[in-house]
Amino acid sequence: MADRKPFVGGNWKMNLNATEAEQLVSALTTTLGDVSAEVAICPPFPYLASLGRQLSAAGSAIKLGAQDVYYQSNGAFTGEVSVAQLKDVGVQVVLTGHSERRHVIGESDVLINAKTRAVLDAGLEVILCIGEKIEQREAGQTDAINAGQLGYGLAGVTAAQMERVTIAYEPVWAIGTGKTATPADAQAAHAAIRKTLAFLYDEKVAAATRIQYGGSVKANNAAELFAQPDIDGGLIGGASLKTDDFTAIVQAAG
Ligand code: PGA
Repeated sequence: MADRKPFVGGNWKMNLNATEAEQLVSALTTTLGDVSAEVAICPPFPYLASLGRQLSAAGSAIKLGAQDVYYQSNGAFTGEVSVAQLKDVGVQVVLTGHSERRHVIGESDVLINAKTRAVLDAGLEVILCIGEKIEQREAGQTDAINAGQLGYGLAGVTAAQMERVTIAYEPVWAIGTGKTATPADAQAAHAAIRKTLAFLYDEKVAAATRIQYGGSVKANNAAELFAQPDIDGGLIGGASLKTDDFTAIVQAAG
């Protein structure tokens, strides 16, 4: 994992009610009190404000994350939420380009880039998610797809802003399916992503950028994945909804 600080994100997706969310945060502030990895949780929008208050009241180092954002600063965009509004309720990090937003909701690379830049321009951190579909993997296109999504997603992002960017490599076929990439396959994809970052920026940026693996990371496979030299933590969906599982995964990251 080189000398990059491991980073584990919990992507709750559209799960939990207010009481369950509060209980999960309450448990995590205790169990994750002394871990050395950086941790973020990304709850649904309606719970961000209250969970943000809960985290600061507990003096927790867990970062508050949002699952999405809109790139415009304000105005007639019914249903959307701006970066400033997220910042207002204590959000520090925002996911962009998650595969469910790309492939279920239909977001384009252009929109994902606009969102990524809006978050960075406002001084927040981004986790930019990329990854190939199964037919693309089978056609040998994994690295090309990742390189394309990186190039589009990071267009206009400066080397200085890259200090606030984490990449999440999440093969679409591994998300929520129980099928995890083998540690060797994940490592190969991560190494190629790091090469692309060196091409887009330079070796220094490439070496400093954290690349999370996501896609069916569980308590029993996390350690093996995180032991790979270019895997710097994970983005966790299903297993982030359970205190014991998420705690074990964060502990596996360091
Ligand atoms: P999963 O989701 O861990 O449930 O596969 C990962 C993600 O979508 O970030």
